[in-house]
Amino acid sequence: MVKVKILPDKENASEEVAQMMHDLIVEKPNAVIGVATGSTPELAYDLLAEKIKENNTDVSQLQFFALDEYIALPWDHPESYHAVINRTVTVPLGVDPSQVHVPEAPDDATEGPVRYYDEQIEAAGGIDLQLLGIGRNGHIGFNEPGTPFESPTHVGRLTEMTRQDNSRFFDSVDEVPPLAVTQGIGTILKSRKAILMAFGEAKADAIRDSLAEPPAEERPGSGLQLHSDCVFYLDEAAAAKVDCEPLKVD
Ligand code: PGA
Repeated sequence: MVKVKILPDKENASEEVAQMMHDLIVEKPNAVIGVATGSTPELAYDLLAEKIKENNTDVSQLQFFALDEYIALPWDHPESYHAVINRTVTVPLGVDPSQVHVPEAPDDATEGPVRYYDEQIEAAGGIDLQLLGIGRNGHIGFNEPGTPFESPTHVGRLTEMTRQDNSRFFDSVDEVPPLAVTQGIGTILKSRKAILMAFGEAKADAIRDSLAEPPAEERPGSGLQLHSDCVFYLDEAAAAKVDCEPLKVD
């Protein structure tokens, strides 16, 4: 089931999410946190880093698992998710790189070897809190429309829309890798709590479709309706086409 929380703007929503993450870390210093890349969670990471600094919070036992990574993009490329997670999470939060996991896949994109990632997550005790953004076409992680809801970590092909949207991080769309390894929707559904953030009118259709019933695999975000504890944190623009009554979340 998805609860929806609508806040006036990205700043308010990011502050709430950062506070929730900080509360979890204080309560459970060995928490396992799933982290997303993209522009959406960046402010929440910055605010969390400030809280950790201000409170001298112990982060030495945390573990982080990134959602996804491009295939055949060198890890030292500034837009590889290894590099992005290092820049936005590992360094600002002051955690050791050994505490941070990013999925890997061979350049020939063979499927088999990527399943190890779900085993690593399970061995860490499972994800306590999974952060998510959403693509304009409703993808979560790189689970594009049509991905089975029970999918484990797997190799997927990016849609042209996703490659166009992500081309803003590259010199041209041709440089955006066509393949990625991603936690599956099944992996995401196993997290104990999931938080999806979406800001701006470009996400309004994807949010409406994610909440439209019944869940359908051509609308990946709608798979989150099958999650036992999922909250969407939206600004007013992203929530503009939500036609259900938002549930109050404390
Ligand atoms: P964004 O990407 O946060 O950069 O909008 C979200 C996504 O594509 O999942």
